[in-house]
Amino acid sequence: MKFTSTALLALAASLAAATPIQKRQVGGILICNGADATGNCTHEVYSLDTCHNMTAGFANNASTFAPDGEAFLCYPYIMPCGGICTSPTGCTFGAVSFDYEHKYNLSAIGWDHYIASFECHLNSTVTSGVVG
Ligand SMILES: *[C@@H]1O[C@H](CO)[C@@H](O)[C@H](O)[C@H]1NC(C)=O
Ligand SMILES: *[C@@H]1O[C@H](CO)[C@@H](O)[C@H](O)[C@H]1NC(C)=O
Ligand SMILES: *[C@@H]1O[C@H](CO)[C@@H](O)[C@H](O)[C@H]1NC(C)=O
Ligand SMILES: *[C@@H]1O[C@H](CO)[C@@H](O)[C@H](O)[C@H]1NC(C)=O
Ligand SMILES: *[C@@H]1O[C@H](CO)[C@@H](O)[C@H](O)[C@H]1NC(C)=O
Repeated sequence: MKFTSTALLALAASLAAATPIQKRQVGGILICNGADATGNCTHEVYSLDTCHNMTAGFANNASTFAPDGEAFLCYPYIMPCGGICTSPTGCTFGAVSFDYEHKYNLSAIGWDHYIASFECHLNSTVTSGVVG
């Protein structure tokens, strides 16, 4: 009898572990001062299609900018939200997603002290539901 109840408990535990509580929200980003997630870090889920200023301590001081694995991409900007872009070469280095090779070391592209704001969007080339 002891074996049976232990087995039932184990089964119940594995069923509970396999049941997703809720789908993870899209828009999570890990932002850290240093490369390879060093220094202070923050991980939050940011609303899409909205500009977010980097918060104090991370503005112009983030070498790690790593979006979660869902199908979305972010454009980091050199100026705060609503700022005027005066650079002829553009004020973002382009779309950053989970797949971006330098997300854990923006020094590699010289952007470790430049991100002032960012805005994220769903990756519209991915059919909703396929990823994540
Ligand atoms: C991390 O942030 C805290 C609070 O803002 C600050 O006191 C601390 O010095 C920071 N640490 C580093 C390594 O920047
Ligand atoms: C930038 O981040 C480093 C490492 O966490 C920290 O020591 C420094 O105080 C930060 N600088 C600013 C201006 O926030
Ligand atoms: C971002 O910062 C800029 C400049 O400090 C400010 O004018 C703007 O209202 C802020 N925008 C948001 C969405 O926080
Ligand atoms: C968007 O999704 C497409 C198709 O999966 C992929 O090829 C592309 O790299 C993605 N864009 C980014 C910035 O990750
Ligand atoms: C980040 O990239 C810079 C420039 O390529 C390199 O010097 C540095 O060693 C790298 N840091 C880490 C932690 O990989």
